[in-house]
Amino acid sequence: MDRIQKIGILTSGGDAPGMNAAIRACVRACIYYKLQPVAISEGYRGLINKKFNFDINARSVANILNRGGTIFKSSRCAEFMTPEGRELAHKNLVDAGIDALVIIGGNGSLSGANKLYKTFNYPCIGIPATIDNDIFGTDYTIGYDTASNTVMDAIDKIRDTASSHNRLFLIEVMGRDAGFIALNAGIATGAEQILIPEQENTIERIINSIKKSNRAGKTSSIVVVAEGNQSGSAFNLSHEIEKKFPEYTVKVTVLGHIQRGGNPSIQDRVLASRFGVAAIENLVKKVSGVMVGIKNQQDSIVSLEDAISSNNAIDKKMIDVANIISI
Ligand code: F6P
Repeated sequence: MDRIQKIGILTSGGDAPGMNAAIRACVRACIYYKLQPVAISEGYRGLINKKFNFDINARSVANILNRGGTIFKSSRCAEFMTPEGRELAHKNLVDAGIDALVIIGGNGSLSGANKLYKTFNYPCIGIPATIDNDIFGTDYTIGYDTASNTVMDAIDKIRDTASSHNRLFLIEVMGRDAGFIALNAGIATGAEQILIPEQENTIERIINSIKKSNRAGKTSSIVVVAEGNQSGSAFNLSHEIEKKFPEYTVKVTVLGHIQRGGNPSIQDRVLASRFGVAAIENLVKKVSGVMVGIKNQQDSIVSLEDAISSNNAIDKKMIDVANIISI
């Protein structure tokens, strides 16, 4: 790897609270190590459309640490998924004299980074940022803690009305492929059932658990449904339940994109700051083709190839915890 002087920074895929904190850390670490940060707008689309800003300095990223979203903007870029799109992106980077890239995003974004790295031997380093927490090689991703807290607050509010009316609520949360948010927030709010993609669920199981809750003297029930669970959407589940058990009135709340917004929690701000510095320090040490992460509270790195090869696994013990304390 030749000497790296100009480092492009982009955010890609679904935004996550804390991405701005990561941008700020990357920019300031670049300046600290006497490198030039380059802002790239709209993720990989910005590489294709040459949306590069070389006039970025420590002050450009002031007062963003506490803000959700991403000031660099994000996208899911179909063109970058094609070999031709990546060829153009790489050419634009080289023409602009950008020597390396920091990619802040989730699985799809890291997979794009890996392709760029592998095909062109172009120095790329990933920072895991997704509310889903589903990336292999790190215990936590940027945005997960904030999103879990947002869901917890929402469910606490729904619990108030659910218990006032003796109702059954199905609350759908994000998690296309992973149940981290559902399990975490479900445990934190005392959900009667938590449906996650990693586990087989049946309507019967849900109903049995609700009946058990009723027998135990509970008058309302909260079921947290991860969007990627194996039994379909919360609306679909509610129809199924009402068909089989007409005595139940089921209410559905889909929390949707509210989960992606808001000011990042202290945990996400610190994690993102730590990841941003680690990413630049790795590039300074001429390490690339990796994703920075955190394992057992320590900085860690894993190859991009490994990071995208599988998902972060749910701790099965947490499923037991949820079951044991929801009686
Ligand atoms: O960021 C990941 C994620 O939150 C998934 O859990 C969810 O399915 C998806 O983003 C939604 O993305 P979009 O904003 O493209 O609808």
